[in-house]
Amino acid sequence: MEISAAGVNNDYVMTAAQIGSLCADETDLTANLANVSALLYELLPEVSWVGFYRMTPDGTLLLGPFQGRIACTRLERGKGVCQAAAISGRPVAVEDVRSFPGHIACDSASRSEIVFPLILTDGSVWGVLDIDSASEGRFSGRDAELLEPVAAAVNAVVVRYFLKGYDEL
Ligand code: SME
Repeated sequence: MEISAAGVNNDYVMTAAQIGSLCADETDLTANLANVSALLYELLPEVSWVGFYRMTPDGTLLLGPFQGRIACTRLERGKGVCQAAAISGRPVAVEDVRSFPGHIACDSASRSEIVFPLILTDGSVWGVLDIDSASEGRFSGRDAELLEPVAAAVNAVVVRYFLKGYDEL
């Protein structure tokens, strides 16, 4: 199944619910984020890469579970779209990555990108959800609004992991 009409908020609300169900019975964060990246890669139209980067103590973003082509493992502090979202704590949508100063081109075919910060209950940024497309203009500020329920569902999976102290399992 693929979401047919991009921008239909109901579809994204359903996708958010699917993320919740998919992760409900599993406590391991890596396993859950691996499945979330697979779900979004399958459902979202015109998407070439979906994945996670997690914030490290020195401010670099480190590659996590993803679907798509081989990606950069570490994103230098302060550089690129993912870091912009992590530092601002706000989603960043880029219609044409070639016009974004410092954009990091892991895949030269990438043209449009949207990144959501994933924020813990203490306000710290755990990492980001990065979604890329080979189509210019695929993501705009409007998609940041439409995909908000999806980003919130992903954020809830991360928050739940840390709240419940699953490390002991
Ligand atoms: N383009 C991103 C880097 C990550 S890849 O797209 C998978 C950026 O500029 O931060």
